[in-house]
Amino acid sequence: MSLRRSVIIGCGAYLPSKVVTNADLARDLDTSDEWIVQRTGIHERRIAAPGEMTSHLAAHAARAALAHAHVDAQSIDLIVLATSTPDNTFPASAVSVQADLGITHGAAFDVQAVCSGFVYALATADGLLKSGAFSRALVIGSETFSRILDWTDRSTCVLFGDGAGAVVLDAQEQPGTREDRGILTVRLRSDGRYKSKLYVDGGPSSTGTVGHLRMEGREVFRHAVTMITDVVADALKATAYTVDDIDWFIPHQANKRIIDGSAHKLGITPAKIVITLDRHGNTSAASIPLALADAVADRRIKRGDLLMLEAMGGGFTWGAALLRW
Ligand code: UT7
Repeated sequence: MSLRRSVIIGCGAYLPSKVVTNADLARDLDTSDEWIVQRTGIHERRIAAPGEMTSHLAAHAARAALAHAHVDAQSIDLIVLATSTPDNTFPASAVSVQADLGITHGAAFDVQAVCSGFVYALATADGLLKSGAFSRALVIGSETFSRILDWTDRSTCVLFGDGAGAVVLDAQEQPGTREDRGILTVRLRSDGRYKSKLYVDGGPSSTGTVGHLRMEGREVFRHAVTMITDVVADALKATAYTVDDIDWFIPHQANKRIIDGSAHKLGITPAKIVITLDRHGNTSAASIPLALADAVADRRIKRGDLLMLEAMGGGFTWGAALLRW
């Protein structure tokens, strides 16, 4: 029996032009290239230019994804943008992208689940496409974390970067077999007991200010591998695939030690892991679509490959998506 599935038909990325290396940071901060590389795997990150906003990065990535998919912006009837650094408190940055692309039909809104945002946005769009309410979506992760960092706090500011990634998700009838392309399952989790482990100390309803990112890094680290491996195992169980079936593991890019620890515990070989952390830092909701676009652009990912996406971050939120390219 055929099944309506959400198939990724194109992806795109955008990075601000300014590169900030670890050595650049070490000029003003009590840190070193050696510490940052050893503890995180990050070598450099991109920082948005003054006036360059989350919706601008998102629109660039969206245009790249539309071009890669060979479809017109007017065929898009849904935009779901994952971000924790919107241009303004409201309206949603997604509607700025919608206007930028000249789309006046359909719906556009933001999803906020911090570093898990892209997986949450993918799940949201997948549900809306499968319900028949929409037919073709742009799912975007875009962040300007540089604007919420405390640049005097070496324990957080060296970790993050700016960027955007996007996919075009198309509702298609698939045969309903093991060869089906598209999203096979998305598993989402959250546990608000951990909300103070990684948060921003401001907001419209609390302080009336934007605030700065605060994190108990060691505490986040302590939970990350368990949460990631549990949710990936859930996704495999739900689809009756095994770890050996996975062609590419596309993790949220927070820390190389977390990625390697999770892959090792799951039994995923290093050759199957897509890493962009060294060049991008942690771009929160943008990190998964940026990594995906990287591995598609250099033709590592091929049609028919099985991809496991996973993320964990503030909230805590975490999640995984299994899809066939
Ligand atoms: O994307 C959302 C999820 N976020 C994450 O996944 C982040 C998870 N956490 C981490 O990745 C790691 O915990 C960090 C990279 C943030 C920190 O690594 P760590 O191995 O857990 O280091 P630590 O926090 O235990 O700090 C070790 C030492 C401390 O000094 P003392 O107390 O041992 O003297 C820190 O003050 O390293 C010091 N330190 C630094 N030293 C040089 C902290 N930041 C820096 C720095 N440069 N930038």
